[in-house]
Amino acid sequence: MKLKLVVLISGYGSNLQALINAIDNGFLQAEILLVISNKPNAFGLERAKAKGIMTQIIESPAVLPLHMDHPDYDQQLINAIQPLKPDYIILAGFMKILGTRFLSIFENQVLNIHPSLLPHYKGLKTHARVLKDGMKQHGCSVHIVTPELDSGPILGQATLDVLPTDTEESLKARVQKLEHQLYPEVIQTLWRARYEK
Ligand code: GRF
Repeated sequence: MKLKLVVLISGYGSNLQALINAIDNGFLQAEILLVISNKPNAFGLERAKAKGIMTQIIESPAVLPLHMDHPDYDQQLINAIQPLKPDYIILAGFMKILGTRFLSIFENQVLNIHPSLLPHYKGLKTHARVLKDGMKQHGCSVHIVTPELDSGPILGQATLDVLPTDTEESLKARVQKLEHQLYPEVIQTLWRARYEK
């Protein structure tokens, strides 16, 4: 048995690629049914197409604030996702906040990867804030998405030491390497919990 995933992206899609690679090399027992982007030019769409994964663009109106509950948009997502009956909806750099209706329909099924050691550094610009505060450790977290931003139950974390030489860019690159390992690991743990006796 494989976990059925729908992946939501907005951009480069390196986390999507990490999932594709983990499936290809047999580490992750999952199948990506659909990749949805809210941005038509997201490079991640090309990554999906290169693997023959179905893609869909559901464009979000740029004029609306990111965090605003936007039921019409959410309904379009629900219409696209629900018929596929996925086990999990994987947010992989999806830069649009999902509303309460979406999250109640897919309760405990929506996962996100966030570039900080939650509950610290919720929100944006995490690497810059970590450096500014002189933190010695940083990392990433996979959590269940709930209506309160970056606050749902944490399923896994990966940590690194912040180096004196680190810049925002170097830190971002090193955290992303961790993300690419952590996300497949956490999802495979969910597979084990479901299918391993
Ligand atoms: C990741 O760094 C993740 O932490 C954040 O958005 C970024 C997406 O990168 N949520 P990519 O599109 O997966 O390359």
